[in-house]
Parts: sequence; structure tokens; C-alpha cells
Amino acid sequence: MFARSVAVVGTGYVGLTTGACLASLGHRVVCADIDAAKVGKLVRGEIGIREPGLAELVREGIAAGRLSFVVGAAAALAELQSRGTPVEVMFLCVPTPMGVGGVADLAAVEAVVEETRDVIPEGCVVVNKSTVPVGTADRTSELLGRPDVGVVSNPEFLREGSAVHDFLNPDRIVVGSNSSQDAAERVAALYARLGAPTVLTDAASAEMIKYAANCFLAMKLSYVNALAELCERLDADVADVTEGIGYDKRIGQAFLSPGPGWGGSCLPKDIHALLQVADSADFEFRLLRATIDTNTRQFQRMVEKIRKAVTGKRSGSVTRKRIALFGLTFKAGTDDLRDSPALGVAALLKQAGAELVAYDPGIAAASSSIDGSLLTVVDDPYEAAKDAEAIVILTEWPEFRSLDWQRLGAAVAERTVVDTRNLLDPAVVRRADFDWVGVGRAAPYVASSLATSSVSAVRKPA
Ligand code: UDX
Repeated sequence: MFARSVAVVGTGYVGLTTGACLASLGHRVVCADIDAAKVGKLVRGEIGIREPGLAELVREGIAAGRLSFVVGAAAALAELQSRGTPVEVMFLCVPTPMGVGGVADLAAVEAVVEETRDVIPEGCVVVNKSTVPVGTADRTSELLGRPDVGVVSNPEFLREGSAVHDFLNPDRIVVGSNSSQDAAERVAALYARLGAPTVLTDAASAEMIKYAANCFLAMKLSYVNALAELCERLDADVADVTEGIGYDKRIGQAFLSPGPGWGGSCLPKDIHALLQVADSADFEFRLLRATIDTNTRQFQRMVEKIRKAVTGKRSGSVTRKRIALFGLTFKAGTDDLRDSPALGVAALLKQAGAELVAYDPGIAAASSSIDGSLLTVVDDPYEAAKDAEAIVILTEWPEFRSLDWQRLGAAVAERTVVDTRNLLDPAVVRRADFDWVGVGRAAPYVASSLATSSVSAVRKPA
């Protein structure tokens, strides 16, 4: 494989993963960030984010002389130039937060273009990896005003918590170019060793693929959360329903677990952005609107469940009731709280007057950024449970499965657990005299372990 010289601008989880993984594939990579303190740490191999395998790859890359870090995009280009290897590809991995009206804010992309316009070597390809509105590759090209520099879109599909794995084992590589086929092929060649199917397309289609993928995932989750509600009303079991539909290869088993709603740094941002893109194209994308509304309703529905579990009525008052929240991050395996459904549910409970104490394995009480007037974070689940009227599981941390439910039972005021992730084995918590309330689970599964095992025996004959 021919090693390329690559600059990566932005060392957030996308940029750092991209830089470290490209270096591990044999390329020479210089990563740039505007945050000098962060760069100082990265140079020492301290990555500052929780991403399995990433710190190791960064340190290996540095040790092998294939990965380095500098302050500023122009400095990254100069660094490669000074080694006699002018940059062939420059990745833009800068933040594109949700701006006014749901439109992605491109200020960071524009700032990098401004900074590097005059120093990008001839023939270099600029790659948009940040999730950007359809049409941004063209807009970047215009801003750059360098016909000799191709601009391509190469969206990432990395999940937080498994970004390195996802980068090195991609389902597909997507590269979209309006400038030249050669520019697109050069970018695709960076990933050649991974042997993934590659979609070469125009820039707008590549940009659309990213939004379309994340919005489809959000739609799948809203669908399953709505199905769960219907299952509850009809006494059907959502776990069996999703297993039953998931064997259909056109549907697949993944991304079918009901929860308190979906969130994180990507799905909410991208669905609002695509809705905005559709609006500006004069297209009323009702399916996306319904997907968002279903998610908002899901938070409220979880609160109704909690009210019912605590008071016996869906509209019962939780004023001054102490409730223990287990899990705050938007999913397990991360310390990321951005657009976390757990915080959405917590905010509604707080509005309703509840007193909230929370424990999350990824969030230390001392360094938590959460507003103390919303909830108190503690470092111990048994302390969080003290005098609680209910324990509410909001994030699917596997360690919650091995909690000592007898000990929790001794700590709480009432033995009730609302499991918004269907994470726990109801039989286990019931053995400690807890009432277990899940999402979309039929009564027979919840009522006794005997019922669960006999039904699953029918379900999965030997
Ligand atoms: C997502 C996309 O998966 C990834 O491809 C993209 O590049 C970035 O956005 P991420 O934000 O890391 O990744 O989270 P993801 O694992 O997709 O989960 C999103 C949300 O859906 C979380 O709140 C999660 O808890 C929820 N979820 C996921 C469910 O409620 N049920 C499921 O079955 C799966």
C-alpha cells in the first residue's frame, strides 16, 4: 500500500479517531487543533476522551513516527511540507453544532478554509468529514477559491464507545466528489486495506447518505418505542416482537431496543438538520417530524411510568418524592451527556417537583458538569438509592445487572424499579422484593421467572 501524507484538522472524537486509525494503516498523519493545551496533552499521548483502544493507537502512532500533533491547520500543512511530504489529503473534522433553526453551524469549517486557503499545496484534496448540510462541499470549494484543490465529502459513521472498531471495520466507505473522480479515488485509496464496500458518488449524495443513515436509525428507534407502547396496551411483548421482526434480513436485529428515547451528539442534531434541509427545499418531511415528536413523547411517557410506579396513578404527584436515577449518559460506555435522554427525563421529573439523586459509572460526582439544581450526582449506587421512592434505570450500563438488590432494598424507601432500558432480569430484582416496571414487556414475562423461561423455551426450541 502506498502511504499518504494526511492532515487532520480537529481532534475531537472523529478527528482523533481518524488520525490515529489512518496512522495505524501506515499513513503519515499530522493532526491539528486550535486548543494548544489539548495539543500539548496529545503530544504526550494523553487523549482526554473515553474511547476504547484510541489511547493505545495514538501512542503507537507517535512512537512509530507516523502521528504528530500541532496547533493550527496551517501548521499541520507546514509540518508535513518540512518533512518533504506535502500534504495530499486534508480532513476537516471540526464541530458543526446545531445552529439557529436546526441548521448546522459551519463557522469552524469556514475558519479552517480561511486559515489554509493560501498554503494548501496544489493537487491536495480537502475532505469534509464533519456532518454538514447537503451542498457544503460546493460551498467549501467556492470559499476556498482554489480550482486546483478538490473538495470531497467522506462522512463518518463512528459510534461513540466503538469508534476505533467502527473505523477499522467499516460497513462501507462513502466518498462524494463534484470536482474529479481522481480526488474521490485518492481518498477512497486511504482505506483500501480495510476491504470495505466503497460508494463513489457526487458530493450532495455523500452528504445526504450521512443524514439519511442517522435519521433512519432514529426513525427505527422511534418506531420501536411506539411499538413498545402499543405492546403495553395490548399485553404483547416488545422483546419477542422485535426478535420476531429482526430475523427478517430486511429489518435486522440491531437498533431495536426500546429505551427512554434516543439522544447523543449526532442523532438529534442530524435529524433537525435534515428537517431543516427538507424545509428549505420546500419538502415537508413528515416522517422525520413524527420521529422527533415520538421521541419527545417517549420522555414524557417514561415520567408517567415513574409517576404510576411511585403513586399508583399515571398523573400522580411526585412533588418532594426522592427518586434515584441510575445512568445519566446518553448510552452506556461513554461519559457523554450531550442530548442525553436520561437528562431529558430528569428535567421533566424535576419540573414535576421530584428530588433527584443520580449515579452513573461514567460520571464522577466531583467533576460532573451537571447543574446541581437539577440533580445531585453521587459516586455510589447504594448512596443514590438511599430513601428513594423508586430506582429508575436510564442508561444501559451492564454493571447495573450485577448490583446487590438486597442491599439496594435495604437502602430504599420503596422497592420499585422502573427499567426504561429493559436491562435487568425481572426475576432477579423480584427475588429482592422489588416491583419491576419495564418498557413494552408483557405481563407474563414480568410476573414470574417461570413464565419467562417457559415462554422462551417455546420461543427457542432446542
Ligand atoms: C450514532 C450513529 O450510530 C453513528 O453511526 C454516527 O456516526 C453517530 O451517531 P452514537 O451517537 O455514538 O452514534 O450513538 P448510537 O449508538 O447510535 O445510539 C444513539 C442513541 O440511540 C442512544 O441514545 C442510544 O441509547 C439509543 N439506542 C440505540 C436505543 O435506544 N436503542 C437501541 O437499540 C440502540
